[in-house]
Amino acid sequence: MPTKPDNCTIVIFGASSDLAARKLFPSLCELALWGHLPQEYRIIGVGRALFSHEEFRSQVYEKLLRFAPATLQDENFFTAFSQRLFYVRADMSEVTGYHDLYKEIMEASQEPDTCSHILFYLATPPALAPVIVRNLQLAGLGEKTLSCGGWRKLIVEKPYGRDLETARELNGVIGGVFSEARVFRIDHYLGKETVQNIMVFRFSNGIFEPLWNRQFIANVTITIAEDFGIRDRGAFYEEAGLLRDILQNHGLQLLAAVAMEPPVDLSADAVRDEKAKVLRSIRPFTPQNAEHAVVLGQYEGYCAEKNVDPNSTVETFAAVKFFIDNWRWKDVPFYIKAGKNLAETVTEIVITFKCPPQNFFGPAESCSYSANQVILRIQPEETIALRFGAKRPGEAVITDPVYMRFDYKTSFTAVGMTPYHRLLLDAMAGEQMNFIRQDSVEYSWAIIDAIRRAVAGRPPEPYAVHSRGPEGMNRIYG
Ligand code: BG6
Repeated sequence: MPTKPDNCTIVIFGASSDLAARKLFPSLCELALWGHLPQEYRIIGVGRALFSHEEFRSQVYEKLLRFAPATLQDENFFTAFSQRLFYVRADMSEVTGYHDLYKEIMEASQEPDTCSHILFYLATPPALAPVIVRNLQLAGLGEKTLSCGGWRKLIVEKPYGRDLETARELNGVIGGVFSEARVFRIDHYLGKETVQNIMVFRFSNGIFEPLWNRQFIANVTITIAEDFGIRDRGAFYEEAGLLRDILQNHGLQLLAAVAMEPPVDLSADAVRDEKAKVLRSIRPFTPQNAEHAVVLGQYEGYCAEKNVDPNSTVETFAAVKFFIDNWRWKDVPFYIKAGKNLAETVTEIVITFKCPPQNFFGPAESCSYSANQVILRIQPEETIALRFGAKRPGEAVITDPVYMRFDYKTSFTAVGMTPYHRLLLDAMAGEQMNFIRQDSVEYSWAIIDAIRRAVAGRPPEPYAVHSRGPEGMNRIYG
């Protein structure tokens, strides 16, 4: 078993949020059950609602009952776990509540005040992040003023700002209170086993990397499709839209993982340097090139969803053709297609190789029918497939596409860790490789802002629920 993290206090801002209910409390409780949390830890929920510690514990119990019922099988375990849960009521924009938080943290601490370790988790709407960070500083809970060995770390949920300007502003505020080494900008995709495996697949095998470039690869397609709509997140979607919700983070991070150069070593910054370089190299979008490189869509019925403007022009689908202007990838299209309410739920990356110089086995077009592909299926199945052409049995020489497939489930015993388990442990341990660095956040926003500017005034194209997206999306393949 890996070494346990330092004893610490975990403070969750937005303790009543959907994220806390679905992911954070279940993950923390499971980590505790599996013995991965520190010897001594406390979890303090912070929110607007008025709860006593006991009421908060019952709230958490209800959430676990719904989202992680297995953790409640052993009553003694939950009783012990719940004794580590505490609650502080705070209006997050007022500093008063932060003084209460300070007291709550320090009273229970065995250490002198400045030596205790604290992990802050912002599971709050993005607009609140700067004010929370400022108030932490005012209440003496910031990191930069620490004089002794204790650490203060900050996990910030996506979306990190809403454009380049707000992201820079937030980076500025955070930078005044926490050093970059203590800031963990979370994109839960980076905690997925299959996403972490992209780098292993590329750089631990000798046979793929020599072909992984513009000479051999025709195109790369990244699909992030969901067969459900915005659920009850109308207000959030009206503010964000799909470009901000999915492309700015999950989409561009997958693209960076496929396109990056090998890092000098596996240190967090060496890996993140390479990802940042990819994002910096993306060809700028203009109204002219976006004409055929960007298609936005909105599913039929979106405007009738709860908390959505009946005349909303927010996109719930995007298909974008990117080019990475560097030596390895110049002129190789990278397509990202992502959307809500599509035909199926699937996240996958398809790397399509160029055809052989001569095709003996059929008309020239038949190559695309069985072109070599590496298919990295991120979810729901966790597989990697290699597609190649094989002779169809019979007298005629006809090529058919066939697949060699690796499946995580059959090759490995499942570990059961989800992205939030991994990323919470990483943050406690101070491991930043799977968190997004400040520069990458800003490069990604610059890309998304440019796309938004380039298509400004162009309404999203409608698409039928459970279809493949708007009809016009094939424009990006032209
Ligand atoms: C979140 C987005 O970041 O990722 C959601 O806000 C999306 O809109 C979700 O549904 C998808 O995550 P996963 O892990 O279920 O693919």
